[in-house]
Amino acid sequence: MCGIVGYIGKREAYPILIKGLKRLEYRGYDSAGCALINGEGTLSVYKTKGKVSDLEAFCSDKDCSGCVGIAHTRWATHGEPSSVNAHPHYSSSRKLALIHNGIIENYADLRKKLERKGFSFQSDTDTEVLVQLIEYVRLSHTPALPLLSAVQLALRQVVGAYAIAVLDKDTPGEIVAARKSSPLVVGIGDGELFLGSDASPIIEYTDKVVYLNDGEIALLRPDEKLKVVNLSNVEVTPEVCTLDMELGDLEKGNFPHFMLKEIFDQPACLRACMAGRLSVDRKNIILSAVVDHKERLLAARRFIIVACGTSWHAALIGKHLIESFCRISVDVEYASEFRYSDPVISSDDVMIAISQSGETADTLAAVELGKQKGAFIYGICNVVSSSIARATHTGSYIHVGSEIGVASTKAFTGQVMVLTMLALALAHEKKTISEEEFGKLCTELGRIPAKIEEILQHNDQIGLLARIFTYARNFIYLGRGYNYPVALEGALKLKEISYIHAEGYPAAEMKHGPIALIDSEMPVVVIATKNELYEKVLSNIQEVKARGGRIIALVTEGDTTISKLVDYCIPLPETMECLTPLIASVPLQLLAYHIAICKGKNVDQPRNLAKSVTVE
Ligand code: F6R
Repeated sequence: MCGIVGYIGKREAYPILIKGLKRLEYRGYDSAGCALINGEGTLSVYKTKGKVSDLEAFCSDKDCSGCVGIAHTRWATHGEPSSVNAHPHYSSSRKLALIHNGIIENYADLRKKLERKGFSFQSDTDTEVLVQLIEYVRLSHTPALPLLSAVQLALRQVVGAYAIAVLDKDTPGEIVAARKSSPLVVGIGDGELFLGSDASPIIEYTDKVVYLNDGEIALLRPDEKLKVVNLSNVEVTPEVCTLDMELGDLEKGNFPHFMLKEIFDQPACLRACMAGRLSVDRKNIILSAVVDHKERLLAARRFIIVACGTSWHAALIGKHLIESFCRISVDVEYASEFRYSDPVISSDDVMIAISQSGETADTLAAVELGKQKGAFIYGICNVVSSSIARATHTGSYIHVGSEIGVASTKAFTGQVMVLTMLALALAHEKKTISEEEFGKLCTELGRIPAKIEEILQHNDQIGLLARIFTYARNFIYLGRGYNYPVALEGALKLKEISYIHAEGYPAAEMKHGPIALIDSEMPVVVIATKNELYEKVLSNIQEVKARGGRIIALVTEGDTTISKLVDYCIPLPETMECLTPLIASVPLQLLAYHIAICKGKNVDQPRNLAKSVTVE
């Protein structure tokens, strides 16, 4: 939600800022803007409604010179998407310019207070309140406070979440940045410093970064050591980390969209996710978190999995896996509801937090709550050193590389893969799985990437199928057992990128209401692979067919029974039942992708969405 970039050094800042914004555009694309201080010390702000390309067009005839700058791409919270509400925001004197990711919860009170002091506001944003507050604090001291101190004192009055960067016309050789509950990374180059909401705008210039912690404020001066203080003005020694990120993940390569690239990346991603953990030869799964915390994990009275969106769907599959294999009870909770539900959590609970970005505000808050109540927290994240990854006691990264497409694809299969390995590793330790079954599952897990490769060969056919259904206004997705969450995920993928209304149901629930929706206009996608519930799903298919529904079925290769009954079939290679989600989700991702493309939608940046939901 909103992307922040900053640069200070010897190079021209503008090209670095624009490139960085493009990398961060997945975080929001309602408006974009930048602030630059040029060689004469002039502070200029340029901003416009729309995407980063619109900002570039807007800036094409402006003076964008200068070696100091900050830039922002916005996902609107307070105030509609417009150039007035776009960041950066000036202070009243136009000496300060500020960008912000987050929400200032007490902005209305602060605004009233500042209005009483004579400040006037141009925008409807909480961000403008923050820059005016900093200016007010600064000027209410004689002599005026240095920017760092003014930011520090102002932030003590602020309730909410923020990652900010501030420029001051009077001190052009510095940027002040701060964070609380929204991510911020400082890149350390040779005589130059970078800022980013994540490391993607920084990676090609330096691999040395500092992840700011909550309540920390950084002073970026190109020729000095990075200074970091907390809100109480205690100096903190910044921990410099080396980035583990592939530049290739940040580029589309030969694919027209990141989403398609990321769907096709899945075999390689899952191989990377299993590398060093699954040994097919030795029939073993080693997750370091399980090795290090075996007793604590096995002693769990229950597991609580918290997550949002796609990650929540992965959590449902995780529940099924852990309960089946480990015989430990698992609750799955929407993090957003959980945090306000006064949940019963005890110190013998283990909480698993699943988050691709590792920055989802609700999931992070659920983790903090779980920690307060004494639960042991296990993180399953993609982004290394993200806030959730750092807030947990232990965890397993999914290692699928940067996911740029707003619709999550490879992260979902990566999450399911880690949950599968976790359930199997725990079951093996607990001896709730036989050696024979464990061995079979290890072998079959190793084959999953190749099976996904087979499915990807049906891409063109799925593209043709998508054309037939582009007209549809509604879709129903059905699945049972392990495939019920796959149905939910298939429906979510379709609605978020094609804007077609879609619902996922457990197939047997149809009779309890949703079947009333079925007519010849209603496409129904059924995951109908050969498994324990096959016959039951077959009956559900008959029920839909009897009411004229048009069925697309995902079937096990060679299934002739279902193919005779339904309108269209997508064959899936045979696998063990509990591993079906890893392969069945892939054709549903492709179907959603192609339908959205046929409808002319922007699949990588669907409307109203942002990838990293760092606000409630
Ligand atoms: C859907 C999607 C979202 C995210 C959700 C949680 O394609 O991407 O539903 O899954 O916002 O995000 P993370 O996993 O980053 O916590």
